[in-house]
Amino acid sequence: MSYLAYQVKETAEGFKGSIKELPIPTLEDGNVLIKVNYSSLNYKDALAATGVKGVVKEYPFTPGIDSAGEVIDSRSNNFVRGDHVVVTGYKMGMSVNGGFGGIIHVPERWIVKIPKNLSQLNVMEIGTAGLTAAASVKKLLDSNVSNNLPVLVSGATGGVGSVAVNILNKLNYKVHALTGKPTHEKVLVAMGAHEIIDRNEFLDSGVRPLDKAVYGGGVDTVGGDILSKMLSMTSNNGAVSCCGNVAGANFKSSVFPFILRGISLHGIDSAESSIELKKHLWEMLSSDWSVSLSDQTRIIELKDIEPEISKILDGQQIGRVVIKHGE
Ligand SMILES: NC(=O)c1ccc[n+]([C@@H]2O[C@H](COP(=O)([O-])OP(=O)(O)OC[C@H]3O[C@@H](n4cnc5c(N)ncnc54)[C@H](OP(=O)(O)O)[C@@H]3O)[C@@H](O)[C@H]2O)c1
Repeated sequence: MSYLAYQVKETAEGFKGSIKELPIPTLEDGNVLIKVNYSSLNYKDALAATGVKGVVKEYPFTPGIDSAGEVIDSRSNNFVRGDHVVVTGYKMGMSVNGGFGGIIHVPERWIVKIPKNLSQLNVMEIGTAGLTAAASVKKLLDSNVSNNLPVLVSGATGGVGSVAVNILNKLNYKVHALTGKPTHEKVLVAMGAHEIIDRNEFLDSGVRPLDKAVYGGGVDTVGGDILSKMLSMTSNNGAVSCCGNVAGANFKSSVFPFILRGISLHGIDSAESSIELKKHLWEMLSSDWSVSLSDQTRIIELKDIEPEISKILDGQQIGRVVIKHGE
């Protein structure tokens, strides 16, 4: 028995991916075999597919940190054949073959049953990017960020940013969308952005230790100077969630936003967050935080993954990319 997967190999010319027929793994105790019907593309998958150091331990390897599908065999007391399930993060797509393949073999503790209001496609429209957005928003809610002032979202057209804009708008926040693609105003407004801010203009005036406090909080998906400036513009007792580094892994700040305005900076690590938190976020995304992402999602086949990988590495993706596996 075999399945198809986009497998990446290290070659003399660099890392190369191709679709391969692979044997179905032997089911181990405490594990579950899942037929993946949908997966999604996240920034980390693009790093894994191109051999960027620190993501994948050993090649040949099948990337894909997200999978939604149906249990086909189980040696777990919690899952039975036919269950519709979603798996995001942990070691999947890093050291355990992931969702760019039609079958995954994963420990039961990584698996969540899909809530009844969501389909397998819906959960992959959300994916790790959306779960990260939800975790980021949760931190703002837990910090009691009021909706008297707008909330700033960076990388707003990207996977995490776009879902954050959708959820915050649903929760009645005025969302300011910071973007390098200001010409895509219509798309951002459809997502729920109230104001579009051009990334270059935002950074034009430089970063000060404290700036005018115009935001109640922020969701930063890019890091670097944008995170520094977001912190300096957050008002008293506000909060910022930070999850990404596409604009830079380092950022400068001072103690002033923290000791003069009492703001909080929350780090988000979606992959390794507890399964209880993931279950809670999926429940919220299937109820009070449910957002329709179908207009912001493109569905592709596995054979068309490579140009999408290049696009996400260039910061040119808008919204989400879902991979539909063969019937
Ligand atoms: N910590 C976690 O748990 C976690 C989970 C998921 C993702 N992440 C990280 O979050 C980040 C975003 O992931 P994603 O899946 O949303 O990626 P994505 O879809 O590629 O979105 C990133 C967005 O950032 C903006 N951007 C790109 N290059 C930039 C630059 N040089 N300077 C400033 N902004 C830039 C672009 O949006 P605009 O053109 O609209 O500005 C781009 O669409 C990545 O660093 C990823 O590794 C972290």
